[in-house]
Amino acid sequence: MIDLKVRIGKTIFKNPVWAASGTFGNGEEFTDFLKITEIGAVVTKTVTRSPRRGNPVPRVVETPSGLLNSIGLENKGVEWFKKEQMPFLKELGVGTIVSIAGETPEEFVECAGKLTGKNRPDAIEINLSCPNVFHKGARRRLFAQDPKITEKITKAVKKKIKCPVITKLTPNVTDIGEIARAAENGGADAISLVNTYFGMAVDAEEMRPVLGNVTGGVSGPAIKPMALAAVWSAYNEVSIPIIGIGGIMTGLDAAEFILAGASAIQVGTANFIDPGRCAGVLKELKEYLNRKKIKRIRDLVGKLKV
Ligand SMILES: Cc1cc2nc3c(=O)[nH]c(=O)nc-3n(C[C@H](O)[C@H](O)[C@H](O)COP(=O)(O)O)c2cc1C
Repeated sequence: MIDLKVRIGKTIFKNPVWAASGTFGNGEEFTDFLKITEIGAVVTKTVTRSPRRGNPVPRVVETPSGLLNSIGLENKGVEWFKKEQMPFLKELGVGTIVSIAGETPEEFVECAGKLTGKNRPDAIEINLSCPNVFHKGARRRLFAQDPKITEKITKAVKKKIKCPVITKLTPNVTDIGEIARAAENGGADAISLVNTYFGMAVDAEEMRPVLGNVTGGVSGPAIKPMALAAVWSAYNEVSIPIIGIGGIMTGLDAAEFILAGASAIQVGTANFIDPGRCAGVLKELKEYLNRKKIKRIRDLVGKLKV
């Protein structure tokens, strides 16, 4: 038996394979494809204080080895989510991490404040890094591009709620270590990285951008080498757990991120190709651990021979 447990703050997740926000609905849509309770956690689609309509269509386009999206955080708001979606996840008993966002620091705090009491999540992931939504007053800047705001929002959300807080970072920065440290200083129980990379697609015949929002975020295997380097850089800067994300398609990909310093990983774009992929990644990761005779997942974290 391999010990796969992962501790984030005071919460223990049964294993390190989680479904990434925005790529797994709120879990219910995937029940026909895998036994959801087998995976470590579902990170739900980002919710905001008030409903959002999202960006103009088209919002998703395939790119070589990846996806480009500009959904723009379309959602029905946190109140709806808590009433209509949380009970299903709670009843199912799967680890539940609710992703939240806002246009101002106050909106993050208000949104988090709605997720307390009965049916509260096992952790909250604060999405400071959606490349399709920019913070008020600073066009084309993301919260997680600014260490001061990263620290401030993390601290404020942490003060508001009791469950662990995971701060999700953007790779679209000069020094990811600086932002990782800011989240740690703000009291984050963990950081997750990466969200998508800024990108765009152009239709030369029509002489137009392909996406309705012009630019979007790139995900999938195309970003894996950069995401690995981001995780490794952050691992060398902070002592809180890191959740690795970016192009993970197989158990071996997951092992690579764990070796580079991730304590857990999230599977994103792969869910669109194979909706049962999270279960496959977990199975393949266990096979790798068996083959390497590793008895505890934490013994693999950061064990890259450099
Ligand atoms: C269609 C789509 C929607 C996404 N929506 C969200 C979201 O709502 N919140 C969030 O934090 N990340 C969102 N992401 C980013 C993923 O959670 C993940 O960080 C990113 O796609 C990189 O992982 P991957 O290469 O495995 O997909 C979205 C990604 C895609 C492809």
